[in-house]
Amino acid sequence: MVIKYWIVLYLVLSLTTGEQIKQFRRKFSDNIIFGAGTSAYQIEGAWNKDGKTESVWDRLSHTKPCVIHNCHTGDIAADSYNNYERDVQMMKEMGLDFYRFSISWSRILPTNSPDDINKAGVSYYNKLINEMLKYNITPMVTIHHFDVPLQLEALGGWVNPKMVDWFVNYARVVYELFGDRVKTWFTINEPREYCTQMSEIVNKSGVNDYLCARHMLLGHAKAYYVYQNEFKAKYGGKVGIVLNSLWYEPESEKDAEAAEDKLQFELGQYAHPIFSKTGDWPSVLKDRIAAKSAAQGFSESRLPEFTPEEVELIKGSSDFFGLNHYTSALVYRNNSVKGFYPSPSYEDDIGVITYQPETWEKTIATWLKVTPWGFYKLLNKIREDYGNPPLYVTENGCPTGPGLFDTQRVFFYKKYLNAMLDSIDEGSDVRVYTAWSLMDNFEWFMGYHDKFGLYEVDFNSPTRTRTPRASVFYYKKVIKTRRV
Ligand code: GAL
Repeated sequence: MVIKYWIVLYLVLSLTTGEQIKQFRRKFSDNIIFGAGTSAYQIEGAWNKDGKTESVWDRLSHTKPCVIHNCHTGDIAADSYNNYERDVQMMKEMGLDFYRFSISWSRILPTNSPDDINKAGVSYYNKLINEMLKYNITPMVTIHHFDVPLQLEALGGWVNPKMVDWFVNYARVVYELFGDRVKTWFTINEPREYCTQMSEIVNKSGVNDYLCARHMLLGHAKAYYVYQNEFKAKYGGKVGIVLNSLWYEPESEKDAEAAEDKLQFELGQYAHPIFSKTGDWPSVLKDRIAAKSAAQGFSESRLPEFTPEEVELIKGSSDFFGLNHYTSALVYRNNSVKGFYPSPSYEDDIGVITYQPETWEKTIATWLKVTPWGFYKLLNKIREDYGNPPLYVTENGCPTGPGLFDTQRVFFYKKYLNAMLDSIDEGSDVRVYTAWSLMDNFEWFMGYHDKFGLYEVDFNSPTRTRTPRASVFYYKKVIKTRRV
């Protein structure tokens, strides 16, 4: 079986053109580390085992299962709760420097009281972390990756300002429990995706989505300072946030402003308060939303203000820029945008139209076309706009259908890693690269349809058997040789 993969891989690599052969010789410096990622709800299963309580995703998949592809749920997923040893073995097989995984909030704090810690949940993460450390695989932990505890959602979740303190209390608990061994912490994964895309959970009203953003930024910053003040001296770790963005390319020269607006709303909304010199929301958001709110008859802007103290608190509250990136889109603005989106709404505030041309290389996911050049441009833009922060690519990957011969994924990684090298050559300070994903998993609204795994998971087998795809052998070689 393994020999077969190598033959396929050899064929894949021998198809390289002259330009690619030149690139083939390019090398990553030794201070860039390579790993793979997952998140709790997407792989763990055991949704109600050993004292874990429900999260918004448990509830959504049980009460409205068919908003998810084929009415799938994450009840068992890849059953990593019972397969953590195999998971670590896979990391070892590939020679990963690190593994990024997330902790399930409601597995650790089932009643949301920081005094009521679920021992079984702690034991699961301890076993996973200790197993990784046996093989020198560094744990990098996301504290919160979309799975809000249901009890807290019932009180408004991230739209409620109290969520800031609830999150900070939870963050303190996990620093306390695992901080002796975990030295890289990601506070919150993709706040914008949660606040504006998961409309089954957060209402895209043009009001709640901005309240959600405000509280996530404050929750992140306060959790950052809890680490600085209470744990940094003892453990010396790093804490940051994970943001996500497409690259937005103007459809034509006249659309440069539209593309910039789109990027400011999508990425700048979260990056500007943390990484810019001035802090606060980007001015385009403040001006646009204030003007629209006034015209819509609101007595104040739908974009909640930060106090000067809050601006200072959030500014600089990340030791690195965590970036999840997959694809790009073209952007334009013309008269047809008037009335295109419901008003008020986040999309109406941005006021642009985006699309991906048919000619771009497709994948199985309708939203993801292969655009390595966009990755290069986005990395450059972050370097230029935010003073070249240490950049951790916390997710990047390609979905395929079932099967082990995932040549599209091999080429995807080859192209995107080359694009990353291009940006590094121009000075971008990229230090971490994370392939999404270690294994096939529950892909949110796409259920088990879009497979992002380096390892295939057989969701029909009771043991959720994992098998390496061709891309495992490619990635393993990249890590070993540090060459694409
Ligand atoms: C990200 C998310 C991951 C994963 C990935 C691929 O938005 O953080 O959990 O699902 O997209 O779609």
